[in-house]
Amino acid sequence: MAVSIRQIQPAFAGEVAGVDLRGELTREAVATIESGMDRYGVLVFHDQSITDEQQIAFSRNFGEIENSAGGTVTKPHEKRLDPLMNDVSNLGQDHRPLARDDRRRLFNLGNQLWHSDSSFRAIPAKYSLLSGRIVVDKGGNTEFADMRAAYDALDEETKRAVEDLVCEHSLMYSRGLLGFTELSAEERAMFRPVRQRLVRTHPVTGRKSLYLASHAGGIVGWPMPEARAFLRDLIEHATQPQFVHAHKWRQYDLVMWDNRQTMHRVRRFDESLVRDMRRTTVAGDAPTAEQVQAA
Ligand code: OGA
Ligand code: MN
Repeated sequence: MAVSIRQIQPAFAGEVAGVDLRGELTREAVATIESGMDRYGVLVFHDQSITDEQQIAFSRNFGEIENSAGGTVTKPHEKRLDPLMNDVSNLGQDHRPLARDDRRRLFNLGNQLWHSDSSFRAIPAKYSLLSGRIVVDKGGNTEFADMRAAYDALDEETKRAVEDLVCEHSLMYSRGLLGFTELSAEERAMFRPVRQRLVRTHPVTGRKSLYLASHAGGIVGWPMPEARAFLRDLIEHATQPQFVHAHKWRQYDLVMWDNRQTMHRVRRFDESLVRDMRRTTVAGDAPTAEQVQAA
């Protein structure tokens, strides 16, 4: 059966059929998925009961896997999963929900803020692939905002104002919004801010998008409060309901998104329940400041 993709109405995401992620994919199947990513920005695959190894192998069709080091306060010896996997669950190594006051849990609550994965890295992520191994019935939706549509909807004056702006992104900024401010010297060094363009141009489609995230805490050359007020305003604009798709998880869904064109967040859920979500991340290929601008 050939891979096919249909748009999920009324939002922008696509739903993929005719593919089994446990096995090797044909070149045609990979090409169909890749062009679906270019077009929709978010793809949903249902009923994919995969292992970590199969998830890693599938992700490698789209580029190198990003090293997960440096993106959390979880120490290497505390990790539940292979370093090629990002553990986005609420679980410790014993597979039980983390205690309410566990520092790792409190840090991970940052995923409830709108963000783009790894925008705090010098070379930010291209795709993320999130597999729902154990999902919750109530809450815990993942929401996606289409940053191309958000860009398109800006007035011309604002488009001109944002065109060449460069932001500073850091996990210190996003966690600071939640009052998570106690960091070791080592963590501060690891979370040193990096620079990202505010407007990105998609290398295949040429479409522009706003590159925003709760990690963005400054604009180069701007007074801090003015930058924060402006970024907050842009995020509010970009996450209006008409730009948002909410994914309600079924067990063994795999959702794949393009971090260059979308933001996402997880919604609240009862954290005494197990929510086992595992992410692989496909690395980007260059700092955003080096992107080729559309004519
Ligand atoms: C992620 C993420 C949200 C979720 O995997 O990058 O933000 O639904 N996850 O767990
Ligand atoms: Mn994320």
